Amino acid sequence: KNNIRIAIDGPAAAGKSTVAKVVAERLSYIYIDTGAMYRALTLKCLNENIDLENELEVTKILPKTSIQLLPSEKGQQVILDNKNVSEEIRTSKVTNNVSLIAKLSSVRDEMVKRQQILAEDGGIVMDGRDIGTHVLPNAEVKIFMLASVEERARRRYEEEISKGYDSNLEVLKEEIAARDKIDSEREFAPLRKASDAIEIDSTHLSIDEVVNRIMEIVRERV
Ligand code: C5P
Repeated sequence: KNNIRIAIDGPAAAGKSTVAKVVAERLSYIYIDTGAMYRALTLKCLNENIDLENELEVTKILPKTSIQLLPSEKGQQVILDNKNVSEEIRTSKVTNNVSLIAKLSSVRDEMVKRQQILAEDGGIVMDGRDIGTHVLPNAEVKIFMLASVEERARRRYEEEISKGYDSNLEVLKEEIAARDKIDSEREFAPLRKASDAIEIDSTHLSIDEVVNRIMEIVRERV
């Protein structure tokens, strides 16, 4: 049995994408960052002055929105309507608005469909909020990654400072907590640990330690 599907869910900034990328590389699997799809749609709505909470308006542009996730040496590239938006989707403007878009059921329905197509052939590591519960309920491996909000904010802070950006630890903590709140309290496919997911608390673990834990779990299942 080969080419399994690995679902990694958890709250914001828990290190899911960092770990998912390394796991995918070790297995020669494809890494799919589903958050990037919600971020790309958010960016488009912001650029086109579409009210993010107006489900009708957002739903109208969805069929006209192409989002491609392309693997590259620099990491996954996100192409929105033929434009590379990999960096733009990481701005705090997008980050602090994306959960509003992700609440809309019509948006979720469409994104889940697109994600299921991407995962069709297996051999993937997919990270998000509802992968184990909704996108790939039959995934062979399900991981739920968490860490304290203090630790998550601290990691994000150090990442921003190391990239030469301004950052504020308290503001980050508030933003992360606010996003988690919307993501876990929304009506459709809220952030939840699937009943058969294995929980990994990374608060006191290094990236390598988390990756090794996941690789052990994967080896038991393939
Ligand atoms: O993973 P990332 O932080 O980039 O996700 C951005 C946002 O997209 C999340 O805060 C959440 O609102 C939404 N999201 C989601 N379901 C997913 C992935 C992301 O609702 N599977």
